[in-house]
Amino acid sequence: MVAQRQPWHIVKPSQLHGNGVFANRDIPAGTRILQYAGKRLTPEQADAMFPVNPDDPFHTFFFALSNGKIVDGGQGGNDSRWINHSCAPNCEGHENSDGSRVFIVAMRDIAAGEELLYDYSLVIDDEITDELKQNYRCLCGAAQCRGTMIAPLPEDERRQAAADELREAAAELEAEMEQARNAPLKDAPAPEATAHDGEDKDAKKGKKDKKPKKKKGKKKDGKKDKKAEKKDKKDKKDNKKK
Ligand SMILES: C[S@@+](CC[C@H](N)C(=O)[O-])C[C@H]1O[C@@H](n2cnc3c(N)ncnc32)[C@H](O)[C@@H]1O
Ligand SMILES: [Zn+2]
Repeated sequence: MVAQRQPWHIVKPSQLHGNGVFANRDIPAGTRILQYAGKRLTPEQADAMFPVNPDDPFHTFFFALSNGKIVDGGQGGNDSRWINHSCAPNCEGHENSDGSRVFIVAMRDIAAGEELLYDYSLVIDDEITDELKQNYRCLCGAAQCRGTMIAPLPEDERRQAAADELREAAAELEAEMEQARNAPLKDAPAPEATAHDGEDKDAKKGKKDKKPKKKKGKKKDGKKDKKAEKKDKKDKKDNKKK
C-alpha cells in the first residue's frame, strides 16, 4: 500500500475572520498549496451578482484573473475560498501562462499551524473613498496593515516607500548618534608615548576597518576616485609643462 501524504492545509475557524486555512504541516517556500477553484464569470456577471449576501454585502469569494475573468469560489470552489487576507501575507497567487488559472503558493517557509494568508489587493472600479476602504476594512493586525483589503493605489505605494526610506534613514542616524555617544572624547588627554605606539595605531586602524560596510557609501568612494584622477591628470600636465 502506498503511504498517503497528509494534505498541506486544513480549514478551521480563524481568529481573524470566520473560517481560515492553516498549514497542516511545514510547507516549504514555493509550494503550490491549492488552486483557487470556482466558476468563471465575466465582470458583468460578477457585478450583477453584487451583493451576493445582502446581510454581509462586502463579503467576497471573487478572485480576478489577468485574462479578464473572475473566479467565483462560492460556486464550485474548494478550500482555497476560506483563505483570509493579510497585508503581510505568507502566500500569493501565481497564474498559469495564459492567466486562466491561479494557484496559492507559499512565499516563504510556513510552519505547521500558521494561518495561510494572501494579500487580496481587491480591485474596485469606483473611486476609492474612505467609506469604501472602510467597507473592505482589514483586521489582519500586521504592523504594515493598510487598514483595507483594497489594492494600494500607486500614490499610496509611493508614500509608503518614502515613509520606509525616512524610517530607515532615521534608524541609521540613531545608530550613528549612539556610536558617537559611546565614542571616547576627542579632548581626552593623549596617552603617554610608549614603545607600543606603533601597535596602538594598527589596533585603531583595525577598528576603523570593522565599520559596517554600508556606511562606506559607494558614491563617496566614487567621488574620491574622481578627485584623485583629476589630481593625477593635473600632475601629469604640470609634469609635461615642465
Ligand atoms: C474568501 S472569504 C475568506 C473566508 C472567510 N473567513 C469566511 O469565513 O467566509 C473573504 C472574506 O473574509 C473576510 N476577511 C478575510 N480576511 C479578512 C481580513 N484580514 N480582515 C477582515 N475581514 C477579512 C472578508 O469578509 C472577506 O470578504
Ligand atoms: Zn491588513
